[in-house]
Amino acid sequence: MEQDSTEFDELDLETITPRQVRQYLKDKFVIVASNRGPVEFRREEDGSIKAHRGAGGVVTAMSTALVATDAVWISSMRTKEDAIMAREAPGGRLAMPPDKPQYWVRYIIPEKKDFQQYYSVISNSILWPLQHYLYDVLRRPVIDESVHDAWNQGYRKVNRLFADEILREIRATDKKPLIFLQDYHLYLCAQYIRRKVPDALIHHFTHSPWVQPDYFRLLPHGMRRELLQGMLANDVLGFHTPHYVNNFLQCCREGEAVRVTVDAKRRLVRHGSREIYVRHYPISIDHEALERTARRRDVEDYRTRLRELAGGCKLLVRVDRVEPSKNILRGLQGYEHFLRRYPEWQERVIFANFLYPSRSDLKEYRDLQRDIEEAADTINREFGTDDWEPVHVEIKDNYPRSVAAQMEFDVLLVNPVADGMNLVCKEGAVLNRRDGVVILSVTAGAYQEMRGTVMPVNPLDIAETADAIHTALQTGERKRKSMGRAAREVVEANTSFKWFLQQMRALRRVEKQRAESESKQAGLPALPRYEHFE
Ligand code: G6P
Repeated sequence: MEQDSTEFDELDLETITPRQVRQYLKDKFVIVASNRGPVEFRREEDGSIKAHRGAGGVVTAMSTALVATDAVWISSMRTKEDAIMAREAPGGRLAMPPDKPQYWVRYIIPEKKDFQQYYSVISNSILWPLQHYLYDVLRRPVIDESVHDAWNQGYRKVNRLFADEILREIRATDKKPLIFLQDYHLYLCAQYIRRKVPDALIHHFTHSPWVQPDYFRLLPHGMRRELLQGMLANDVLGFHTPHYVNNFLQCCREGEAVRVTVDAKRRLVRHGSREIYVRHYPISIDHEALERTARRRDVEDYRTRLRELAGGCKLLVRVDRVEPSKNILRGLQGYEHFLRRYPEWQERVIFANFLYPSRSDLKEYRDLQRDIEEAADTINREFGTDDWEPVHVEIKDNYPRSVAAQMEFDVLLVNPVADGMNLVCKEGAVLNRRDGVVILSVTAGAYQEMRGTVMPVNPLDIAETADAIHTALQTGERKRKSMGRAAREVVEANTSFKWFLQQMRALRRVEKQRAESESKQAGLPALPRYEHFE
């Protein structure tokens, strides 16, 4: 039976269908905003323009979560070709996917300097390392005038641009907008929207960890206050794990930066007359869509190439952006240690590092890329033979190659020092065809869900990493099969669609509560009392 929209928040998440979602969204308009969009257009050598998939977890989850929503996804323009494609698209809206549109992409176009301040200085050099505990506190960052300027000019300005674009979308529709802001790039956006549309329904999701209050306090007071005020202009704040939720509530409670009261039991923050709900929804992947990708011809070709590369050796794989928090160098050190400690594995295993170039406008990222290449060369020089190259490093934006590698690994190394969730381990669990073992850092958000189905590793301990590689390679078929099955079950029990539905439901509940309190104030009979958030 078709459900009507008022029952949407009571539908069972396990059985809800895209059709029911479409029905609910009939009079709603979903607006998503994230800095990185689902595609980036680039010119190929033959002069044609090709769409490349955006990197990272936000894109992985969001692009499959938006199925059936007809949403508009606002992101920032990155290339000249993005501009060309947007100009050619009717109404500046790019259909995604182009042949069977499920949602639409629009770009904001910041000034180059503003974007650099917002993206490279504040988002990637201040907020990202803060949220991943990556400050080298004796040396970096040095917060000087240029950083304050970047906050005051670039960060605020680009957040305002996003808000203006969202406001334009709100004004152009008769439907009820539901706004979903993503990540650390957009902490100030909600308050700019709310100033113009006080009753807007706004949800923010943080895709990275949220740190403990002592660490958060390293951010200058003014920025901290503005950041928290910006976040608290949302109706609901989402994080990956209960741990990050608690950290956030603690930061609100202990921080002298904002005057709020925190109700830890109901996980809400009272700020002025408003209540902000703080929730956790572990992000996941669309395993069915991934399986369809796995059947693609180009993926099949890469699988063949990979088997040729392995040449009968076991395949240890990593798939990551070139990113400090991913701990790629310690992965190589751990492997080197392994080859030394367990020489019987020499010439019997290959460590394939399939990496994506990332944030190369920052010196730290460029240096990291160079260090990775050097570390791989050193291992190859020391251990390699005429017939065996122990480490393979490929730094290239290549999605089918990554999918093929996740299908073909014997061991997958995922050892970040900190990671909001980590979707590579989830993709690997679903895709792998060889009963491979996933080694997962205990500090990745995903470890909370995957423990017991993966081999845990301390990300700093290269001796333990070496042992984990050895143990994983030696694990018997029965154990590997049962771990693999359990890991797949964990991942398949949650999807990116469900992750997004939970957020839509949370906003729906806010809307209902608001209607209830407005009718009370107006002396009208109240709607039936709605249950508290569970
Ligand atoms: C992480 C962040 C995303 C970001 C992605 C790629 O997953 O949570 O917000 O888009 O990294 O980083 P980039 O800077 O290339 O967009």
